Amino acid sequence: MIIQGIPRPGDGLRLHLNENTGGCSPRVLDAVRALTAEQLAAYPDYRAAVLACARHLGVDPDWVLLTNGLDEGLLLLALARLGADKTPGAEAIVPVPAFDPYFAAVAAVGATAVRIPPGEEFAFPLDAVLRAVSTRTRLVYLNTPNNPTGQEISREALRAVAEAAHGAAVLVDEAYVEFARESFIDDLPRYRNTVLGRTFSKAYGLAGMRIGCLVAHPDTLAPIRAVTPVLNLNVVAVTAMQAALEDTTFLPRYAAQVRESKARLYAACRRLGLEHWESAGNFVLVRVGDRVAEVMKALGERGVHVRDRSRDPHTPGCVRITAGIVAHTEAAINALEATVV
Ligand SMILES: Cc1ncc(COP(=O)(O)O)c(C=O)c1O
Repeated sequence: MIIQGIPRPGDGLRLHLNENTGGCSPRVLDAVRALTAEQLAAYPDYRAAVLACARHLGVDPDWVLLTNGLDEGLLLLALARLGADKTPGAEAIVPVPAFDPYFAAVAAVGATAVRIPPGEEFAFPLDAVLRAVSTRTRLVYLNTPNNPTGQEISREALRAVAEAAHGAAVLVDEAYVEFARESFIDDLPRYRNTVLGRTFSKAYGLAGMRIGCLVAHPDTLAPIRAVTPVLNLNVVAVTAMQAALEDTTFLPRYAAQVRESKARLYAACRRLGLEHWESAGNFVLVRVGDRVAEVMKALGERGVHVRDRSRDPHTPGCVRITAGIVAHTEAAINALEATVV
């Protein structure tokens, strides 16, 4: 039987999807509870939410397109930039390892993904990406910090790709930017072919709400708006997002927990002799080796669910562990120490 969605791994700690392990701000719950029957009965009005999001990002409202999770944004972008182009052989450049839905979006519109392998220690393969840009390139997927490696792409490299691929759209997927050093957002006016992707699923703890956004020059957004359902978001999600942005203490507190969690995970990996990569996101990629299935099972039996990345040819023997609330990370480390001996 085929059932929609991602199945729950069972009870326990969800460290497999890079969610906020502590939940969303209580201000969000209050705002959602305060919704009235009349509000739920009416088609939503997004204006206040777009204004709040634009204010938060420091851009004009016509630079913002709210999407039903960034996942929807990925599909809309592929539709607008790859699907609408009827010239045969449209290509999308995807540095790997990458977030799997990029490939699903490219395949959905009948385009070809050109995969670019990483450099040493998952370094961004700038030269290879630049060499891959051609007249067939319609879209370039850049993800910083990268899921699953946690590595960042430098501003200089982002600029170099945006310049080289001037005839294509360049997605800068910043799903984990709240945990990273900097954003590319200030460069958007200079690089008009660039589209920034953001989500409220990770740092803000709203994965269940499904809300994200694309940010770009209005001319760049226009073809994407054209393929966006007029009412793509529900009223609960836009209400939640606005309340999340009003709680200004929530994010710094959670980011501090994530920083401490990552430091403890690195230390545990060093103790256990496990190869790992320091991450700018809210997760850490760890190589457990040939025993990955056994480790996943043993962790699962202890109620700790992590993501198996071993089937990706670029991350053999690896699992990805979400770093959230420190107490949750400690529980994961205890389970890891009992499992990997
Ligand atoms: C790199 C990256 N982009 C986009 C998304 C999608 O986020 P959303 O939950 O907003 O659809 C994720 C979620 O895991 C992600 O890791």
